[in-house]
Amino acid sequence: MTTGETLLVTGGAGYVGSHCVAELRARGHRVVVLDNLQQGHRAAVPTDVPFVAGDLADAALLRRVFAEHRIGAVLHFAANSLVGESMRDPFKYVGDNVTNALNLLRAAVDAGTRRFVLSSTANLFGTPERTPIDETVTIDPGSPYGESKFIVERMLHWADRVYGLRFACLRYFNAAGAHPDGTLGEDHDPETHLIPIVLDAALGKRSHVEIFGDDYATPDGTCVRDYVHVCDLADAHVKALDLLATRSGHFNLGNGQGYSVKQVIEAARRVTGRDIAVKVGPRRPGDPATLVAASARAMSELGWTPRFPDLDAIVRTAWEWKRRHPDGYGD
Ligand code: UFG
Repeated sequence: MTTGETLLVTGGAGYVGSHCVAELRARGHRVVVLDNLQQGHRAAVPTDVPFVAGDLADAALLRRVFAEHRIGAVLHFAANSLVGESMRDPFKYVGDNVTNALNLLRAAVDAGTRRFVLSSTANLFGTPERTPIDETVTIDPGSPYGESKFIVERMLHWADRVYGLRFACLRYFNAAGAHPDGTLGEDHDPETHLIPIVLDAALGKRSHVEIFGDDYATPDGTCVRDYVHVCDLADAHVKALDLLATRSGHFNLGNGQGYSVKQVIEAARRVTGRDIAVKVGPRRPGDPATLVAASARAMSELGWTPRFPDLDAIVRTAWEWKRRHPDGYGD
Protein backbone atom coordinates (compact mmCIF):
# COMPACT_ATOMS: atom_id res chain seq x y z
CA MET A 1 0.00 0.00 0.00
CA THR A 2 1.16 3.51 -0.78
CA THR A 3 0.60 5.73 2.26
CA GLY A 4 -2.26 8.19 2.00
CA GLU A 5 -3.80 6.67 -1.11
CA THR A 6 -7.37 5.50 -1.59
CA LEU A 7 -8.50 2.62 -3.80
CA LEU A 8 -11.54 3.12 -6.01
CA VAL A 9 -13.73 0.01 -6.16
CA THR A 10 -16.39 0.21 -8.87
CA GLY A 11 -19.19 -2.29 -8.29
CA GLY A 12 -18.09 -2.56 -4.66
CA ALA A 13 -21.71 -3.23 -3.61
CA GLY A 14 -21.94 -6.27 -5.88
CA TYR A 15 -21.16 -9.90 -5.18
CA VAL A 16 -17.41 -10.15 -5.87
CA GLY A 17 -16.78 -6.42 -5.33
CA SER A 18 -18.22 -6.40 -1.79
CA HIS A 19 -16.07 -9.36 -0.76
CA CYS A 20 -13.05 -7.57 -2.19
CA VAL A 21 -13.86 -4.40 -0.23
CA ALA A 22 -13.94 -6.51 2.96
CA GLU A 23 -10.56 -8.08 2.10
CA LEU A 24 -8.94 -4.76 1.24
CA ARG A 25 -10.10 -3.21 4.50
CA ALA A 26 -8.92 -6.21 6.48
CA ARG A 27 -5.45 -5.56 5.01
CA GLY A 28 -5.55 -1.89 6.00
CA HIS A 29 -6.41 -0.29 2.64
CA ARG A 30 -8.63 2.77 2.44
CA VAL A 31 -11.37 2.43 -0.21
CA VAL A 32 -14.14 4.41 -1.87
CA VAL A 33 -16.98 2.50 -3.52
CA LEU A 34 -18.81 3.61 -6.64
CA ASP A 35 -21.90 1.60 -7.54
CA ASN A 36 -25.18 2.38 -9.34
CA LEU A 37 -26.99 -0.23 -7.17
CA GLN A 38 -28.57 -1.86 -10.22
CA GLN A 39 -27.23 -5.25 -9.09
CA GLY A 40 -25.37 -4.15 -5.98
CA HIS A 41 -26.77 -3.69 -2.47
CA ARG A 42 -26.13 -0.67 -0.26
CA ALA A 43 -26.14 -3.00 2.76
CA ALA A 44 -23.19 -4.94 1.32
CA VAL A 45 -20.92 -1.93 1.90
CA PRO A 46 -20.01 -0.98 5.49
CA THR A 47 -21.45 2.38 6.54
CA ASP A 48 -17.99 3.80 7.29
CA VAL A 49 -16.81 3.27 3.69
CA PRO A 50 -17.26 6.36 1.47
CA PHE A 51 -19.98 5.44 -1.01
CA VAL A 52 -20.81 7.15 -4.29
CA ALA A 53 -24.16 6.15 -5.78
CA GLY A 54 -23.62 6.73 -9.46
CA ASP A 55 -23.01 5.38 -12.89
CA LEU A 56 -19.84 4.97 -14.92
CA ALA A 57 -21.65 6.56 -17.85
CA ASP A 58 -21.41 9.85 -15.92
CA ALA A 59 -17.94 11.12 -16.89
CA ALA A 60 -18.35 14.34 -14.85
CA LEU A 61 -19.07 12.30 -11.73
CA LEU A 62 -15.95 10.23 -12.34
CA ARG A 63 -13.82 13.35 -12.66
CA ARG A 64 -15.22 14.55 -9.31
CA VAL A 65 -14.43 11.24 -7.60
CA PHE A 66 -10.83 11.34 -8.82
CA ALA A 67 -10.55 15.00 -7.82
CA GLU A 68 -11.90 14.40 -4.30
CA HIS A 69 -9.79 11.35 -3.45
CA ARG A 70 -6.17 10.55 -4.12
CA ILE A 71 -6.91 7.34 -6.05
CA GLY A 72 -3.81 5.15 -6.13
CA ALA A 73 -5.47 2.25 -7.95
CA VAL A 74 -8.80 1.24 -9.45
CA LEU A 75 -10.46 -2.15 -8.97
CA HIS A 76 -13.14 -2.38 -11.63
CA PHE A 77 -16.01 -4.81 -10.98
CA ALA A 78 -19.02 -2.80 -12.17
CA ALA A 79 -20.36 -4.38 -15.38
CA ASN A 80 -23.21 -6.30 -16.88
CA SER A 81 -22.13 -9.91 -16.36
CA LEU A 82 -24.68 -12.43 -17.64
CA VAL A 83 -23.60 -14.61 -20.55
CA GLY A 84 -27.19 -15.56 -21.42
CA GLU A 85 -28.49 -11.99 -21.36
CA SER A 86 -25.60 -10.88 -23.56
CA MET A 87 -26.68 -13.37 -26.23
CA ARG A 88 -30.10 -11.64 -26.31
CA ASP A 89 -28.92 -8.04 -25.86
CA PRO A 90 -25.34 -7.88 -27.20
CA PHE A 91 -25.04 -4.07 -27.40
CA LYS A 92 -25.72 -3.73 -23.67
CA TYR A 93 -22.40 -5.58 -23.33
CA VAL A 94 -20.09 -4.60 -26.17
CA GLY A 95 -21.66 -1.15 -25.81
CA ASP A 96 -22.21 -0.22 -22.15
CA ASN A 97 -19.49 -2.40 -20.58
CA VAL A 98 -16.93 -0.99 -22.98
CA THR A 99 -17.90 2.70 -22.89
CA ASN A 100 -18.19 2.63 -19.09
CA ALA A 101 -14.72 1.11 -18.78
CA LEU A 102 -13.40 3.69 -21.24
CA ASN A 103 -14.86 6.57 -19.17
CA LEU A 104 -13.27 5.10 -16.08
CA LEU A 105 -9.91 4.56 -17.73
CA ARG A 106 -9.87 8.10 -19.15
CA ALA A 107 -10.68 9.59 -15.76
CA ALA A 108 -7.99 7.44 -14.12
CA VAL A 109 -5.30 8.36 -16.66
CA ASP A 110 -6.23 12.06 -16.55
CA ALA A 111 -5.96 12.03 -12.76
CA GLY A 112 -2.55 10.35 -12.83
CA THR A 113 -3.74 6.96 -11.50
CA ARG A 114 -1.50 4.25 -12.95
CA ARG A 115 -2.74 0.96 -11.43
CA PHE A 116 -5.86 -0.91 -12.51
CA VAL A 117 -7.29 -4.35 -11.66
CA LEU A 118 -9.97 -5.70 -14.02
CA SER A 119 -12.62 -8.24 -13.16
CA SER A 120 -12.40 -10.42 -16.29
CA THR A 121 -13.83 -13.81 -17.16
CA ALA A 122 -13.28 -17.39 -18.34
CA ASN A 123 -15.84 -16.60 -21.03
CA LEU A 124 -12.89 -15.08 -22.93
CA PHE A 125 -12.04 -18.63 -23.96
CA GLY A 126 -15.46 -19.56 -25.41
CA THR A 127 -15.19 -23.23 -26.26
CA PRO A 128 -11.49 -23.72 -25.45
CA GLU A 129 -9.12 -25.69 -27.67
CA ARG A 130 -7.76 -27.51 -24.61
CA THR A 131 -8.39 -27.85 -20.91
CA PRO A 132 -7.39 -27.01 -18.19
CA ILE A 133 -7.22 -23.47 -19.54
CA ASP A 134 -3.99 -21.56 -18.98
CA GLU A 135 -3.21 -18.06 -20.19
CA THR A 136 -1.77 -19.31 -23.51
CA VAL A 137 -5.08 -20.81 -24.72
CA THR A 138 -6.45 -18.87 -27.71
CA ILE A 139 -8.88 -16.12 -26.80
CA ASP A 140 -12.15 -16.49 -28.71
CA PRO A 141 -14.94 -15.07 -26.53
CA GLY A 142 -18.01 -17.24 -26.12
CA SER A 143 -20.48 -14.36 -25.95
CA PRO A 144 -20.83 -10.57 -26.23
CA TYR A 145 -20.18 -10.53 -22.47
CA GLY A 146 -16.79 -12.22 -22.89
CA GLU A 147 -16.08 -10.02 -25.91
CA SER A 148 -16.74 -6.88 -23.86
CA LYS A 149 -14.20 -7.99 -21.26
CA PHE A 150 -11.67 -8.81 -23.97
CA ILE A 151 -12.04 -5.34 -25.48
CA VAL A 152 -11.41 -3.82 -22.04
CA GLU A 153 -8.36 -6.07 -21.60
CA ARG A 154 -7.03 -4.69 -24.90
CA MET A 155 -7.72 -1.09 -23.84
CA LEU A 156 -5.62 -1.77 -20.76
CA HIS A 157 -2.83 -3.18 -22.89
CA TRP A 158 -2.66 0.10 -24.83
CA ALA A 159 -3.05 2.23 -21.70
CA ASP A 160 0.05 0.46 -20.39
CA ARG A 161 1.99 0.97 -23.64
CA VAL A 162 1.02 4.62 -24.06
CA TYR A 163 0.54 5.93 -20.50
CA GLY A 164 2.47 3.43 -18.40
CA LEU A 165 -0.70 2.33 -16.61
CA ARG A 166 -0.07 -1.09 -15.04
CA PHE A 167 -2.95 -3.54 -15.05
CA ALA A 168 -3.94 -6.99 -13.86
CA CYS A 169 -6.68 -8.85 -15.74
CA LEU A 170 -8.16 -11.48 -13.45
CA ARG A 171 -10.19 -14.03 -15.39
CA TYR A 172 -12.55 -15.65 -12.91
CA PHE A 173 -13.94 -19.07 -13.54
CA ASN A 174 -17.16 -19.67 -11.53
CA ALA A 175 -17.28 -17.35 -8.52
CA ALA A 176 -19.13 -19.08 -5.68
CA GLY A 177 -19.59 -19.20 -1.90
CA ALA A 178 -19.99 -16.44 0.66
CA HIS A 179 -17.97 -14.68 3.33
CA PRO A 180 -17.34 -17.15 6.20
CA ASP A 181 -18.37 -14.50 8.76
CA GLY A 182 -21.91 -14.66 7.37
CA THR A 183 -22.22 -10.95 6.57
CA LEU A 184 -21.79 -11.01 2.78
CA GLY A 185 -23.10 -13.35 0.10
CA GLU A 186 -24.62 -13.78 -3.31
CA ASP A 187 -27.90 -11.95 -4.00
CA HIS A 188 -28.85 -11.43 -7.64
CA ASP A 189 -32.23 -10.50 -9.03
CA PRO A 190 -33.07 -12.49 -11.03
CA GLU A 191 -30.77 -15.26 -9.84
CA THR A 192 -29.32 -17.30 -12.67
CA HIS A 193 -26.31 -18.97 -11.00
CA LEU A 194 -26.33 -22.65 -10.20
CA ILE A 195 -25.30 -22.78 -6.53
CA PRO A 196 -27.76 -20.17 -5.16
CA ILE A 197 -30.52 -21.74 -7.25
CA VAL A 198 -29.74 -25.21 -5.85
CA LEU A 199 -29.72 -23.81 -2.30
CA ASP A 200 -33.04 -22.04 -2.86
CA ALA A 201 -34.46 -25.44 -3.78
CA ALA A 202 -32.96 -26.88 -0.54
CA LEU A 203 -34.68 -24.05 1.39
CA GLY A 204 -38.00 -24.83 -0.30
CA LYS A 205 -38.05 -21.49 -2.13
CA ARG A 206 -38.04 -23.33 -5.46
CA SER A 207 -39.79 -26.60 -6.24
CA HIS A 208 -36.81 -28.02 -8.13
CA VAL A 209 -33.59 -27.30 -10.03
CA GLU A 210 -33.68 -27.50 -13.78
CA ILE A 211 -30.52 -29.04 -15.23
CA PHE A 212 -29.76 -27.30 -18.51
CA GLY A 213 -28.94 -30.32 -20.65
CA ASP A 214 -27.55 -33.75 -19.78
CA ASP A 215 -26.23 -34.70 -23.22
CA TYR A 216 -22.88 -32.90 -23.14
CA ALA A 217 -19.61 -34.73 -23.83
CA THR A 218 -18.75 -34.90 -20.10
CA PRO A 219 -18.60 -37.90 -17.71
CA ASP A 220 -22.25 -37.57 -16.56
CA GLY A 221 -23.54 -35.51 -19.50
CA THR A 222 -23.93 -32.25 -17.52
CA CYS A 223 -21.68 -29.18 -17.83
CA VAL A 224 -18.44 -29.09 -15.88
CA ARG A 225 -17.26 -25.88 -14.20
CA ASP A 226 -14.44 -24.77 -11.92
CA TYR A 227 -16.02 -23.18 -8.81
CA VAL A 228 -13.73 -20.74 -7.03
CA HIS A 229 -14.51 -19.16 -3.66
CA VAL A 230 -15.35 -15.46 -3.77
CA CYS A 231 -12.95 -14.75 -0.87
CA ASP A 232 -10.15 -16.44 -2.82
CA LEU A 233 -10.95 -14.13 -5.74
CA ALA A 234 -10.83 -11.17 -3.36
CA ASP A 235 -7.44 -12.33 -2.09
CA ALA A 236 -6.14 -12.51 -5.68
CA HIS A 237 -7.09 -8.84 -6.18
CA VAL A 238 -5.10 -7.76 -3.16
CA LYS A 239 -2.12 -9.77 -4.38
CA ALA A 240 -2.51 -8.33 -7.89
CA LEU A 241 -2.16 -4.83 -6.44
CA ASP A 242 1.27 -5.84 -5.15
CA LEU A 243 2.27 -7.10 -8.60
CA LEU A 244 1.37 -3.72 -10.10
CA ALA A 245 4.25 -2.17 -8.22
CA THR A 246 6.45 -3.73 -10.90
CA ARG A 247 4.43 -4.86 -13.93
CA SER A 248 1.15 -5.85 -15.61
CA GLY A 249 -0.26 -9.38 -16.08
CA HIS A 250 -3.15 -11.69 -16.98
CA PHE A 251 -4.25 -14.48 -14.66
CA ASN A 252 -6.80 -17.30 -14.89
CA LEU A 253 -8.35 -17.93 -11.49
CA GLY A 254 -9.86 -21.27 -10.57
CA ASN A 255 -9.14 -24.33 -8.46
CA GLY A 256 -8.17 -26.52 -11.39
CA GLN A 257 -10.88 -28.99 -10.50
CA GLY A 258 -14.09 -29.36 -12.51
CA TYR A 259 -17.47 -30.38 -11.11
CA SER A 260 -20.55 -31.25 -13.12
CA VAL A 261 -23.98 -29.75 -12.48
CA LYS A 262 -25.03 -33.11 -10.99
CA GLN A 263 -21.98 -33.15 -8.70
CA VAL A 264 -22.81 -29.64 -7.45
CA ILE A 265 -26.35 -30.77 -6.64
CA GLU A 266 -24.95 -33.83 -4.81
CA ALA A 267 -22.60 -31.58 -2.81
CA ALA A 268 -25.57 -29.38 -1.85
CA ARG A 269 -27.52 -32.45 -0.70
CA ARG A 270 -24.55 -33.50 1.49
CA VAL A 271 -24.02 -30.02 2.94
CA THR A 272 -27.68 -29.15 3.59
CA GLY A 273 -28.92 -32.65 4.45
CA ARG A 274 -32.03 -31.77 2.43
CA ASP A 275 -33.73 -33.24 -0.53
CA ILE A 276 -33.31 -31.32 -3.79
CA ALA A 277 -35.61 -32.22 -6.67
CA VAL A 278 -34.22 -31.96 -10.21
CA LYS A 279 -35.67 -31.94 -13.72
CA VAL A 280 -33.65 -32.18 -16.87
CA GLY A 281 -34.42 -29.45 -19.40
CA PRO A 282 -32.89 -28.33 -22.69
CA ARG A 283 -29.40 -26.86 -23.04
CA ARG A 284 -28.95 -23.15 -22.30
CA PRO A 285 -27.60 -21.34 -25.39
CA GLY A 286 -23.94 -20.37 -25.10
CA ASP A 287 -22.94 -22.91 -22.40
CA PRO A 288 -19.64 -24.67 -23.19
CA ALA A 289 -19.37 -28.28 -21.94
CA THR A 290 -16.28 -27.84 -19.76
CA LEU A 291 -14.42 -24.84 -18.30
CA VAL A 292 -11.57 -25.62 -15.91
CA ALA A 293 -8.72 -23.26 -15.08
CA ALA A 294 -4.99 -23.85 -14.92
CA SER A 295 -3.93 -21.29 -12.31
CA ALA A 296 -0.23 -22.12 -11.98
CA ARG A 297 0.69 -18.61 -13.14
CA ALA A 298 -1.42 -16.94 -10.43
CA MET A 299 0.09 -19.27 -7.86
CA SER A 300 3.71 -18.69 -8.84
CA GLU A 301 3.56 -15.01 -9.86
CA LEU A 302 0.97 -13.66 -7.42
CA GLY A 303 1.67 -16.14 -4.62
CA TRP A 304 -2.04 -17.03 -4.71
CA THR A 305 -3.20 -20.18 -2.93
CA PRO A 306 -6.95 -20.74 -2.68
CA ARG A 307 -8.10 -21.20 0.93
CA PHE A 308 -11.36 -22.90 -0.10
CA PRO A 309 -10.41 -25.36 -2.85
CA ASP A 310 -12.99 -27.93 -1.73
CA LEU A 311 -16.46 -27.82 -3.34
CA ASP A 312 -18.30 -28.86 -0.15
CA ALA A 313 -16.54 -26.08 1.79
CA ILE A 314 -17.55 -23.55 -0.87
CA VAL A 315 -21.17 -24.73 -0.83
CA ARG A 316 -21.17 -24.71 2.99
CA THR A 317 -20.33 -20.99 3.13
CA ALA A 318 -23.05 -20.27 0.54
CA TRP A 319 -25.54 -22.33 2.59
CA GLU A 320 -24.70 -20.47 5.81
CA TRP A 321 -25.42 -17.19 4.02
CA LYS A 322 -28.69 -18.50 2.54
CA ARG A 323 -29.92 -19.81 5.86
CA ARG A 324 -29.19 -16.56 7.66
CA HIS A 325 -30.39 -14.37 4.79
CA PRO A 326 -33.06 -16.30 2.86
CA ASP A 327 -34.11 -13.04 1.18
CA GLY A 328 -30.55 -11.85 0.59
CA TYR A 329 -29.92 -8.26 1.66
CA GLY A 330 -33.67 -7.71 1.85
CA ASP A 331 -33.73 -4.68 -0.43
N1 UFG B 1 -27.14 -24.44 -14.63
C1 UFG B 1 -28.21 -25.32 -14.61
N2 UFG B 1 -29.38 -24.90 -14.06
C2 UFG B 1 -29.55 -23.66 -13.52
C3 UFG B 1 -28.45 -22.77 -13.55
C4 UFG B 1 -27.26 -23.19 -14.11
O1 UFG B 1 -28.11 -26.45 -15.08
O2 UFG B 1 -30.65 -23.35 -13.04
C5 UFG B 1 -25.85 -24.87 -15.19
C6 UFG B 1 -25.42 -24.02 -16.38
O3 UFG B 1 -25.99 -24.51 -17.58
C7 UFG B 1 -23.90 -24.18 -16.31
C8 UFG B 1 -23.61 -24.36 -14.81
O4 UFG B 1 -24.86 -24.72 -14.24
O5 UFG B 1 -23.53 -25.35 -16.97
C9 UFG B 1 -23.12 -23.10 -14.16
O6 UFG B 1 -23.98 -22.03 -14.53
P1 UFG B 1 -23.90 -20.56 -13.91
O7 UFG B 1 -25.01 -19.78 -14.52
O8 UFG B 1 -23.84 -20.67 -12.42
O9 UFG B 1 -22.47 -20.03 -14.39
P2 UFG B 1 -21.87 -19.92 -15.87
O10 UFG B 1 -20.84 -21.01 -15.99
O11 UFG B 1 -22.91 -19.87 -16.91
O12 UFG B 1 -21.22 -18.47 -15.85
C10 UFG B 1 -20.35 -18.04 -14.84
C11 UFG B 1 -20.45 -16.52 -14.70
C12 UFG B 1 -19.99 -15.85 -15.97
C13 UFG B 1 -18.62 -16.34 -16.35
C14 UFG B 1 -18.56 -17.83 -16.38
C15 UFG B 1 -17.15 -18.26 -16.59
O13 UFG B 1 -21.80 -16.14 -14.45
O14 UFG B 1 -19.94 -14.46 -15.75
O15 UFG B 1 -19.04 -18.39 -15.16
O16 UFG B 1 -17.01 -19.63 -16.39
F1 UFG B 1 -18.30 -15.86 -17.57
